[in-house]
Formats: sequence, C-alpha cells, structure tokens
Amino acid sequence: MKKSFILGIELLLLGGLTSLASNLRCAKTVFSQPNVRFMQKVRISDGQGVVTVKGLPSGLKWNAKRQIVEGKVKKEGVYSYTISYNHNGKIEDAQVKLTVSSQLQLPVPFMGWLSWNSVEGDISESIVKQVADMFHANGLYDAGWNAVMMDDLWQARTGRAVDGKPLPDPKRFPNGLRSVADYVHSKGMKFGLYTDAADKTCAGAFGSYGYEKIDADQYAEWNVDVVKCDYCNAPSEQDTAIVRYGRMGDAFKQAKRPMTLYICEWGVREPWQWGAEAGGSCWRISADVRDGWTCEPGGAGVMQCIDIMKNISEYSGVNRFNDSDMLCVGLHGTGHSSNDLCFGHPGMTQDEYRTQFALWCMWSSPMALSFDPRTNTLTDDDLAILKNRRLIALNQDRMGQQADLISESDQMVVFAKDLENGDVAISVTNLSDKTSEATFDFAKIPALDARKSYKCQDLWTGEHLNPVKGGFTVSVRSHTTMVYRLSK
Ligand code: GAL
Repeated sequence: MKKSFILGIELLLLGGLTSLASNLRCAKTVFSQPNVRFMQKVRISDGQGVVTVKGLPSGLKWNAKRQIVEGKVKKEGVYSYTISYNHNGKIEDAQVKLTVSSQLQLPVPFMGWLSWNSVEGDISESIVKQVADMFHANGLYDAGWNAVMMDDLWQARTGRAVDGKPLPDPKRFPNGLRSVADYVHSKGMKFGLYTDAADKTCAGAFGSYGYEKIDADQYAEWNVDVVKCDYCNAPSEQDTAIVRYGRMGDAFKQAKRPMTLYICEWGVREPWQWGAEAGGSCWRISADVRDGWTCEPGGAGVMQCIDIMKNISEYSGVNRFNDSDMLCVGLHGTGHSSNDLCFGHPGMTQDEYRTQFALWCMWSSPMALSFDPRTNTLTDDDLAILKNRRLIALNQDRMGQQADLISESDQMVVFAKDLENGDVAISVTNLSDKTSEATFDFAKIPALDARKSYKCQDLWTGEHLNPVKGGFTVSVRSHTTMVYRLSK
C-alpha cells in the first residue's frame, strides 16, 4: 500500500483531534544552555485576555509587550514557572519546566545526511563511509555538516537475533554497526540510525515496539548518537503515540550513552505538544518531503512546509525543534521516494532550493541532505548554497528560536527570527511566478523598533547594505528567498 494513502487515512481518523484546543499556546517543557540567552514565546489563540507569569528564576523576565519570557539563567538546574492566561475571569494555567544544562541532547539542530530519499534499501557500511568522506572532501564538514544517519532498511531481512537483539543486514554491514559508528566518529561526525514504534518499520523491517530497552542498550553499545523513530504500523491515537514514544524516551534515558530521540509521526498528532515530554529533541511536522516546490496530497513540497511551520513557531526552541524533513538541495530530481507525488516533475530550480535552505535555516529546522554518494549530484552551486555560513549561523543560533510568520499573501511570505546576540533575521519568499518587489515594514515586526536604525547585511552575498530605518524594499526573483540580518 502506498505511504501517502496510509497517511491520508491517518489524517482522516485524526480529523477530530480537539483535546489540545487550549487558548494558551506555549511549550511546557523548555531548555536552555547556562548563560546563553533564552526565549520562550507565548501565543493566545482567542483574542484579548491578559497573560501573566509567576515564579520565573533569576535572570528571566516577562516581556508583556512581546509576550515572551526572556533572559539568561546562569546556573544549571531544573526550574519551573507558571504562565497564566486570564480571559474575562476564565483562567488557564501552564506549568513550565525549564532545564538549564550544558549536556542537552540537541542544543542546536543537527546538520547531516539521511539515507532515505535516494539510497533507500541500499544503505550499507560503504555508503555511510562514502558520505562521511565526502563531507570532508567537499568542505561541508568544515561548514558545520556533521552527522551521518541511516534511515529504514539497515536491519537484517531475517529479523532479530535469537536473543531478541537487533541485527544489521550481514551482507551490507559485514563488520557490524559498531565499526561503522567508530569510522563516522573518527571523522568527527555523529552517527544515527532508524527504527519504528511498532512491530514493523514503514518498509517492513523489524521495529522496536516491545524491544525498547533491548534496542536502546544495543544502540548505545554500537555508539549510536541519533535515533529516528518512525510511526508506521502503530495505532493512530495521540495517546498511544505519547505512550510509545515515552517508552522509547525512557529506555534512552537508562542507556549508558546519551542518544537523541528524533520523533517521526509526520506531525499528525501534534508532537510539538508532547514530544519533549516523551523524551524527544525534535519531531517531524509533515508528511515526507518531496523534491518539488509544491506537491500532491500525501507529501510535502516547500509550500506545504511553509503552511505548517508558520503556525507552530512558539513550540520550537533549544532541544525541541520542529523538523521540516530532509533537504532536497542537490537532488535535482534524482531521488527515489522524494520523486513521488511531484505532479510528475520532480526536481526544483536553484532558486527554489535556495528557498528551501533559507527557510530551514530561518526556522532552525534540523537539516539532513539526502543525495546518493554513489552518483554525487551536488553541483558547485549546491555546495555554495549549503556552505553559506551566514545562513547556517541562523540555523545553529544557540537561542534556537524558529522564525515567526510576519505577513503572507499570494505573492510574498515574510518571516522574522530572534537571534541570541539581539540581532534579528528577516526573510521574504516570492511565491509568485515573476520577479516582484517586496517591502519589509518594521512596524509589523515585533522584534524590531520602527524608530531605530539598523545595520543590514544581505546573508546570501555577505554585502553590508546602508543602514535601514522603518523598513526597506527589495526585488525578489520568483520562488527565491532574500534574507537579511539586522543589528542595532
Ligand atoms: C517514513 C518516514 C521517511 C522514511 C521512511 C522509511 O515514514 O517519514 O522519512 O523514514 O518512512 O521507510
């Protein structure tokens, strides 16, 4: 059965997901590194009531104008505070748990490679090694790309070992997984693999349901760093997903090595509401990404990712990232699963790939490339996009804030992102099919003061433009994204 069809049924069944309909929208489990600027956004979905915050630890304050908790906590520890929303005497409270630690699983989003889009069932020791080598040879590693992750089908086709332990395919991993992980680590990179919170994975290999502890211990033994945990073949209810991912998260906590739990249930059950509580550090927000600007239902082109991400920025932060799935930059229509549902025309223009990269950076989405190292379709222009350190710095900003939607029309979408040092990144994406002008209006961007003058850098070219005040107008090619960094 086609994946898109299965997902369609899930969406239908979950159409009535209302248990989470609260007017107070904020994360309840948040993280920060000690002495690094922290920010938590609070959003109200029904209008004009008043938000107050009580019990903030020293170093944090409530910014009522912007509706954010902000500041720096110096000391490591677990803190709690209460966010209350009073609307005509009706009070909603959220107890927030803030963990300040220098040992967080995913302080900034991962930047790496995932095998699925192009390699699928061919994943092997040799492919993992080739990717690690390539990242060093082509300069991606130096630019910050530092994780190699195996997706589905690394598992032995014959199933688990007799003692229940997971086994890699012996033909494709003749030396076992520990040696593969060691190789990746020797290159200064992290190593990841994939499983599923059910008996079987999406592609039919064995999953981890009922084997959470055995698997977590074995992954730790293999020196795994990141585990993507899928949700095919599992019951559709949100409650069950919370329990199943929680079991995985608990097993990871007891394992002898820290491992990052990457939740992949496609955003269907709003994992941004419970993923961190289950022990996850990031979660997919959509169906599988496609190598297209827009795509048929069941998949996610760039447009579908914008449509979802624009509504959930308040749930993303340090060690709790909304993940827009693999990047298609560099694929040029050569992938496999990423080619499905693309109205028959997989592949994007360079401007569209630029938009994908720029938005994933603005959103602090985890980023995974997905090219096939055997054919290596990355061009010099792709590498220039992916090595743009000014944009990477947005993705890796230690405050971990996802850009907020500022305005949208059929023509232009504008986002703004708060950065740790107080700078603000702004982007505009041209959705229309011709070059057009777009105006940033600082009065509409809460992070900016329309009366102040800002230094302005074009993050694609690095060029420092004349200082700007109140706003400015730029010309944007069809389907591309301009990004600027504004500093006081
Ligand atoms: C999907 C998942 C993909 C990939 C695939 C493997 O459910 O969303 O990213 O992991 O399974 O079978």
